[in-house]
Amino acid sequence: MDEGQPDGRYIPVARLTALDARGRAVVQVGDTRVALVRVDGRLHALADTCPHRGGSLAEGDLDGHLLHCPLHAWPFDVRTGRCPWRPDASVRIYEVRVRGDEILVAASDSVGFPERPL
Ligand code: FES
Repeated sequence: MDEGQPDGRYIPVARLTALDARGRAVVQVGDTRVALVRVDGRLHALADTCPHRGGSLAEGDLDGHLLHCPLHAWPFDVRTGRCPWRPDASVRIYEVRVRGDEILVAASDSVGFPERPL
């Protein structure tokens, strides 16, 4: 699962042991709560706070790569942060690397779309 040597943009946020039985964890990156979500053995990171009414996406159910918010089921693609139901809604995603048993995310130059309140 080691994805090579991360560059300086990446900061350690958790150890693999922090993931729960579903491969989930919530970590703090700056001012943002970030959900770590494992899908098919690969870790994804996205802003945890749903742009609808603030549900914790880390607590949602997965359907393929779509993570459904636990409050009103809006889906977000963990690979892109996009919500297929609401193209105007999206969450920021972060690049993830694993080094040994450490999970690192890109603290700057995050990819995806900025969070926008609706
Ligand atoms: S709070 Fe996420 S869908 Fe409503």
